[in-house]
Amino acid sequence: MEVHGANGYLLDTFLRDGSNQRSGPYGGPIENRARLLLEVIEAVRVETELVGLRLLPLNSYNAMRDSDPVALASWLADHLNDTGLAFLHVMRGDFFQQQQGDVLTPVRERFKGVLIANMGYSSAEANAAIGAGAIDAVAFGTAFLANLDLPERLRLGAPLNASNPATFYSQGPAGYTDYPTLHPFPGAPP
Ligand SMILES: Cc1cc2nc3c(=O)[nH]c(=O)nc-3n(C[C@H](O)[C@H](O)[C@H](O)COP(=O)(O)O)c2cc1C
Repeated sequence: MEVHGANGYLLDTFLRDGSNQRSGPYGGPIENRARLLLEVIEAVRVETELVGLRLLPLNSYNAMRDSDPVALASWLADHLNDTGLAFLHVMRGDFFQQQQGDVLTPVRERFKGVLIANMGYSSAEANAAIGAGAIDAVAFGTAFLANLDLPERLRLGAPLNASNPATFYSQGPAGYTDYPTLHPFPGAPP
C-alpha cells in the first residue's frame, strides 16, 4: 500500500507552508505540518506491515508551494526512519519547473530505508543512479503508460513507444491499452 503524501491532496496540504495556514498542533513548524502524515502512516501500519509513502516536495501541481522544499524533504526523511516504511517514493522535480532544488540527495543521506525515485528517468539514467547507490529503484510513469511491457523492453534494450499526451486522462481504452507491445499479451484480442 502506498500512502499519497503529494500532489496537493489532503496530506500534502498539511505538509506545505503555502497551503497550511493553521495555528495549533497541525500548523506552523515542520514538525506540526508533518504530524497528520506521521499519524496516518502509524494508523495504516496497524492494518498492514507493507506501507510506502509517495512524496513530491518540489511539485507545484494543484498550486502547491513551500518556502523551503529541501528542508521539508530533509526533515521528513529523518523522521520517517522511525515509521517502519517499506519504501519512500520521491518525485525529484516539479511538473511546472516553478520550484527548483535537489531533494533526492538529502533524502538519501537521511532516510535509511528503500528509496524509489521518479520523474524523467531513462533506462540508462535509472541504471546509473541505482548502480551508484544514489537510489534503490525508479518508478516509471509515462514510459509505463505507453509501454505495457516496459520491464521486458528495458531488459532487452528494445526501443520504447513514445507516449501520446493527447490521450492522457482519456475516458475509454485509447491511450491505455492501444499502444503496441513486443508480443501479444495473453488473452489480448488478435
Ligand atoms: C496521464 C498521467 C496521469 C497521472 N496521474 C497521477 C496520479 O493520479 N497521481 C500521481 O501521484 N501521479 C500521477 N501522475 C504522475 C506520474 O505518477 C509520474 O510522477 C510522472 O509522470 C513523472 O514520471 P515520468 O517522468 O516517469 O513520467 C500521472 C502522470 C500522467 C502522465
